[in-house]
Amino acid sequence: NRRITIRDLRTAKERGERWPMLTAYDMYTAEIFDQAGIPVLLVGDSAGNNVYAHTDTIPVTIEEMMPLARAVVRSAKRALVVCDLPFGSYQIGSEQALATSIQVMKETGVQAVKLEGGLPAVDSVHRIVEAGIPVMAHVGFTPQSVNAIGGYRVQGRGAQGEDLLTAALALEKAGAFSIVLEMVAADVAAEITKRLSIPVIGIGAGPDCDAQVLVWQDMAGMRSGAMPRFVKAYGDLRAGLTSAAKAFAEDVTTGQFPGEEHTYR
Ligand code: KIV
Ligand code: NA
Repeated sequence: NRRITIRDLRTAKERGERWPMLTAYDMYTAEIFDQAGIPVLLVGDSAGNNVYAHTDTIPVTIEEMMPLARAVVRSAKRALVVCDLPFGSYQIGSEQALATSIQVMKETGVQAVKLEGGLPAVDSVHRIVEAGIPVMAHVGFTPQSVNAIGGYRVQGRGAQGEDLLTAALALEKAGAFSIVLEMVAADVAAEITKRLSIPVIGIGAGPDCDAQVLVWQDMAGMRSGAMPRFVKAYGDLRAGLTSAAKAFAEDVTTGQFPGEEHTYR
């Protein structure tokens, strides 16, 4: 009943076993996903647009990530917990990237960190890994660079595909234990998955990756509005919570709640 390690994930790839990953930002989600057998939980900086009500991940700070990561670590007994390094906490250079990673490891108890970027991130990944901290890389569509990319655009099409493979190979060589491919053309993702010996985790990267990740609010049908193509909702939590809140409101306004059984005499 020990916690999942990066070695287990490598072994899974060797055996051709696929695995799921979900984001988690608090106690109950971490506890529930852990007990449901999700082996890797990501405290994503997607907290920016799923917890903190920003429109993207750019404003998220390390101070905002820390308490979420602590709650997830305390609540998940078996899952390997990964914490995203938010925008601005590692881009200045490998020194800053290492310092932030050390802080995250010491103050949250997560088992790994994750950062975005291709070739420019290679040095930082190398430094962090040398310090004994497992790093998950993230290429393709990288949300912290949404302004530079110019929107939510599929990556790796055409000649870009070769660059993506080059970056992925360099990140593997730098010591990353796994790599997320976000919104990457499926054929390119399949090729990268084949060429790398570390697990490749897809989100909008087609069916051939070693693992798949979704933001939990997307996976469970909590989010409202238009969904990206790569999302599949496996629940209807938004409808469930809405009807619970409405039923509670109705009972309170009509005097049905609290009943005798909820009352101290
Ligand atoms: O922050 C996040 O949720 C992520 C995943 C989508 C990979 O980076
Ligand atoms: Na992220």
